[in-house]
Amino acid sequence: MDKVRIGVVGCGGMGQGHIKSIKELPEAELGAVSDVDEETVKKTSRENGVKGFTDYNELINSSLVDAVVIATPHYFHPPVGIAAFEKGLHVLSEKPIAVTVSAVDEFLKAAKKSGKVFAVMYQLRTSPAIRLARKIVKDGRLGEIKRTIMLDPNYRSQAYYSSAGWRGTWKGEGGGVLINQAPHGIDLFMLLGGLPVRVSASVRTRLHKIEVEDEASAVLEYANGAWGYYYTSTCEMPYTQRIEICGDKGKLVYADGILKMYSVNPSISQHNATNQNMWTFPEVKEEPLELQEVESGHKEIMRNFCAAILHGEEVIASGEEGVWSVEFINAVNLSGRLCKPVNIPVNRKEYDNLMDSLIKSSQEKTAVKVQRVTDPRISK
Ligand SMILES: NC(=O)c1ccc[n+]([C@@H]2O[C@H](COP(=O)([O-])OP(=O)(O)OC[C@H]3O[C@@H](n4cnc5c(N)ncnc54)[C@H](O)[C@@H]3O)[C@@H](O)[C@H]2O)c1
Repeated sequence: MDKVRIGVVGCGGMGQGHIKSIKELPEAELGAVSDVDEETVKKTSRENGVKGFTDYNELINSSLVDAVVIATPHYFHPPVGIAAFEKGLHVLSEKPIAVTVSAVDEFLKAAKKSGKVFAVMYQLRTSPAIRLARKIVKDGRLGEIKRTIMLDPNYRSQAYYSSAGWRGTWKGEGGGVLINQAPHGIDLFMLLGGLPVRVSASVRTRLHKIEVEDEASAVLEYANGAWGYYYTSTCEMPYTQRIEICGDKGKLVYADGILKMYSVNPSISQHNATNQNMWTFPEVKEEPLELQEVESGHKEIMRNFCAAILHGEEVIASGEEGVWSVEFINAVNLSGRLCKPVNIPVNRKEYDNLMDSLIKSSQEKTAVKVQRVTDPRISK
């Protein structure tokens, strides 16, 4: 095989972006498309000269594809992916890989059983700054982590929430900012800072006419006793993003795409134990950082997915690591709703019970003006 034949399931805003990437990549070929909306599937199949299916099972069983890319609303990621794995296909899922940790467990079980490539569309991992930040942490240059922070405020308009019946509902989406806009940032935060073991969170709906949260704030505790803080919302402009990972030997600051690394010598613990002078401090040096010139964005995740299938290239964002963000999201939501600290791994049964009650309270949206349009800022 020199090209991976890919079936795109879900041909809305993001699905259209993925079709464009597939058509531009020499390693990929569009095999077929699927969407529950008949008009959408007809139009997409006609425009791209491939077969279209309203039922994703038919695409999976069509023998037209080696792999599927899932770009449906989040709840469908596990059922589509599991059906694909059972048929022996490779899977690239949009984020988040599932709405609940119990659904992630099922998804991962099917992936492991099939032995096929499982990747997730966490394209921010491909940026040169994040690749380098990941290496700095992996190489132990920060020493033991003592404190973390992520501030990830964002903005979405009411028109955005009204652009599809599923958006901003418990029944259709399974959450608000935490499950939709925040997963990219949370993935980076978990990648660099690791998963906390306990969160104490608050969640609320501050700006929009939606039933799910548009703001969340959480205090974090890590296994080694380190503390952290996390904030997200869809109520703020301009969009800014800040991550700090502070260790005994250094501090990493990632702010609006710019990475800085400070080394601390001697380490804070060593200085504290040995220094006798009242007003001396460890030496702090901002390290020069050399960023690699590499491809980044959605297309790079797609290329990497194909290369993993064709030549065993290491997956940049593996499905197995997709569980981290869902653990964190579920923990923050559970803690915020029940007003109590929550441990990670999240208690699967407790979270499923919470979701069942939230879904029961879910109201059908009355004012929907359907728009299937990719965010123009990310359609690279
Ligand atoms: N990685 C990113 O940067 C990024 C950006 C935007 C959206 N997303 C993710 O992509 C997914 C889709 O979001 P979107 O903005 O494209 O939504 P959208 O509403 O524009 O498109 C979703 C499409 O899926 C179709 N669909 C629904 N159920 C289906 C099913 N069972 N089988 C086949 N098709 C089905 C809908 O008809 C629609 O056309 C979400 O999970 C979202 O989190 C990721």
